[in-house]
Amino acid sequence: MEGACPRCGGTGFVPRGGGSVDLCECRFEQENINKILGIPRRFWEAELDNYQYENPSEENAYKEAFVFASSFDPSEGKGLTFVGTPGVGKTHLAVGILKKIYRDKGIKGRFFDTKDLIYKLKALINEGKTSKAIKRILSYPLIVLDDLGSERLSEWQREIISYIISHRYNNLRSTIITTNFSLTGDEKEEKKIRKTAPDIELPRSLMVERLGPGTVSRIFQMTKVLYIKGRDRRRL
Ligand SMILES: Nc1ncnc2c1ncn2[C@@H]1O[C@H](COP(=O)(O)OP(=O)(O)OP(=O)(O)O)[C@@H](O)[C@H]1O
Ligand SMILES: [Mg+2]
Ligand SMILES: [Zn+2]
Repeated sequence: MEGACPRCGGTGFVPRGGGSVDLCECRFEQENINKILGIPRRFWEAELDNYQYENPSEENAYKEAFVFASSFDPSEGKGLTFVGTPGVGKTHLAVGILKKIYRDKGIKGRFFDTKDLIYKLKALINEGKTSKAIKRILSYPLIVLDDLGSERLSEWQREIISYIISHRYNNLRSTIITTNFSLTGDEKEEKKIRKTAPDIELPRSLMVERLGPGTVSRIFQMTKVLYIKGRDRRRL
């Protein structure tokens, strides 16, 4: 396995003699990297290395993720959007990219559950801590906006998302998005751009309705949109 720990070979245990084992230090490094990048506990084991693809759209998504992470240049402002049904590994890939970029290049990105982020920013705004705190959150060289547009948004929520996207867009900052929804809602247009998974069945978009055409247009310009079709890995 690429990058496996030299002390334990990736098992997490080192023999202590007498048949007993110690936990390897890399376990702590593992915990560290996840905490540093803000990764939720459920995804602490997710890596690009342990993403398994079983069809062309998954393979394509993996390869694009790998190339993106390997060639990441924070000054370019490039990003990715993973679109697909639940359980195909969108969040797994986004987490894997964040970790690879941190390990290989020392660039510290940040994972955000989009809904959490919206509420966090709202709280800051309510406390009157507007620009500085918000800009600090939004100035990471790379952020993941997980589960964007997963539910109906109120006006203020939509405004905050629009602010986040515009800020990232204007400042050439990289963003990785995951979502269950098609982006345009226009079935014909959508099919044309879904090269890898043309027959994927996504909930009819609402992304344009939810986020507004300006935000969706920026997302198209600042990220490469990848459609993933596959089985739900949460069901065995
Ligand atoms: N291709 C894969 N290889 C290995 N593990 C996978 C793969 N796809 C998903 N998983 C695992 O399955 C679980 C569900 O994946 P994940 O949460 O990334 O799906 P998702 O596409 O983000 O779903 P949702 O749209 O519901 O957020 C996770 O534990 C993830 O690590
Ligand atoms: Mg997800
Ligand atoms: Zn180890």
